Amino acid sequence: MKTMVMGSINIDYVYRVARFTRPGVTVPASALEKGWGGKGLNQSVAIRSGGADVLLAGCVGREDSAELLAFLREKGVDAHLVSRTDKPTGHTIIQVNEAGENSMLIFGGANRAVDGELIGRALDELAPGDLLVMQNEISNMPLLLTRARAKGVRMILNVSPVEGAPDSLPLETADLFFLNEHEAKAVARTDADVEGALLRRYPAAAFVITYGAKGAAVVAAGVRRLWADAHRVRAVDTTGAGDTFLGYYVSRMAKGASNEECLRYATQAAALCVQRPGAAPSIPLLEEVERALAR
Ligand code: RIB
Repeated sequence: MKTMVMGSINIDYVYRVARFTRPGVTVPASALEKGWGGKGLNQSVAIRSGGADVLLAGCVGREDSAELLAFLREKGVDAHLVSRTDKPTGHTIIQVNEAGENSMLIFGGANRAVDGELIGRALDELAPGDLLVMQNEISNMPLLLTRARAKGVRMILNVSPVEGAPDSLPLETADLFFLNEHEAKAVARTDADVEGALLRRYPAAAFVITYGAKGAAVVAAGVRRLWADAHRVRAVDTTGAGDTFLGYYVSRMAKGASNEECLRYATQAAALCVQRPGAAPSIPLLEEVERALAR
């Protein structure tokens, strides 16, 4: 069984600030770090770090492709479906405050060059039952979701960013959703009994919902709800924590693990991630996660 991520590739500029900037207010940044990010890239690195083989499909600006391919090679991610484009590489300006929270501004760039040709080429490499992980940061998402559904792959959808997605994407195509609390409300289209509303709206799907520092749940129709408390740690930067969580969960799934085990690894990996700065650079290795789980 193959695992593929089709998604965004960004360069992240992470600025440390005391407080996020507001309209009309200039704030100084005490530090700047630059590193690879993008939900697609982060999730592929996390899946590989968790021990499963993974392919990443997406687009990068020509000028950054050699550096990106070297990075992905070092991480063990199969990048032969990363396409070089004349558009500049996507980038994200991230403010991280003293509580480790972030605020992001994303420029799509090359991520908006994902087209039907790349989607077709990527899907040609998958067979029914293979895992396909997607987010909402690339162009042609409706086409990708529709064609992937027709192919019969297992569709894992992280509806992030969620703004506009419930109205513009065929969400009923997804088999497994990864949502944070805010995204869950948007997809359920309600603030009340959100998990129940999700199951009523998409009865054939399963949901992994992260509730920040509280923990995470796995819910599906007719199945006992699973819950894992988040670990109590001091967060320095929560950027990429959701991607790390998803990557470790899917990595365990690809190995045939139970939902309980997937949740345990994902929760532990995310707890290690938030104690480090950056997105992709903060994703822990499997031995670090297993060492922490054994404590
Ligand atoms: O989830 C974190 C990621 O979101 C960052 O790496 C940023 O590039 C955006 O895609």
